[in-house]
Amino acid sequence: MNSDLDRSSRKSDDPSNSRISHREHYPWATSLAGMHEFVWQRLVRGVADRRSPARHPTLATVSANGLPSARTVVLRAATPATHCLEFHTAVGSEKVAHLQQQPIAAVHIWDATPRLQIRGVGRVSMARGDDVAAVWERIPEASRRAYSAGPVPGSPIDGPDAWVAEPDPTALVVLTLSLDRLDVLHLGEPHRRAVFERGSGWVGTWVVP
Ligand SMILES: Cc1cc2nc3c(=O)[nH]c(=O)nc-3n(C[C@H](O)[C@H](O)[C@H](O)COP(=O)(O)O)c2cc1C
Repeated sequence: MNSDLDRSSRKSDDPSNSRISHREHYPWATSLAGMHEFVWQRLVRGVADRRSPARHPTLATVSANGLPSARTVVLRAATPATHCLEFHTAVGSEKVAHLQQQPIAAVHIWDATPRLQIRGVGRVSMARGDDVAAVWERIPEASRRAYSAGPVPGSPIDGPDAWVAEPDPTALVVLTLSLDRLDVLHLGEPHRRAVFERGSGWVGTWVVP
């Protein structure tokens, strides 16, 4: 268990913390619908607010030999109506190779202020070239170097800066993660955890935290 979890557990033994109730401090954590709606509020905020924790989720894929592979990415879009999240990446990156073989991914966010862990898993579709031309147009000039016709991310080089970025619209891949399941843990007093699934209409169910 992480230290936050430990600390939070200890706090619940402290009578001085008895005033920290879900109802007063985390009203969204008193119902499944409230948990679900709050998660999407935080995700949508992550797209707009560079300082929001949901701005930088961890995205995990599975390699061809079955190994997990996790990295930080920027959350580019979050659509509550479809339960889809969007990320941008470079065509030569390992994650794209993983997704070509196994188009599934998991996403993880620790949002410390509301004491909320968000985990999601689902299927990923990839779009490139003409289909994402409008996305390329909206990427600022300085950021386009992340999508380069030069050596692919992870290529060995002779020194730390021995590579040149050549911005290339065909190197941009837009990843859309269509979530099938959301697992939400709130470290309130007491802890609460809920699971929401596409297959059951995102109604949700409480589970043991
Ligand atoms: C704060 C931060 C934001 C990042 N955003 C992205 C991103 O939006 N897309 C991306 O492909 N890589 C992003 N990266 C780099 C990835 O973490 C990773 O190093 C790179 O994509 C190569 O990963 P891969 O070899 O597993 O494909 C980001 C890294 C950091 C630290």
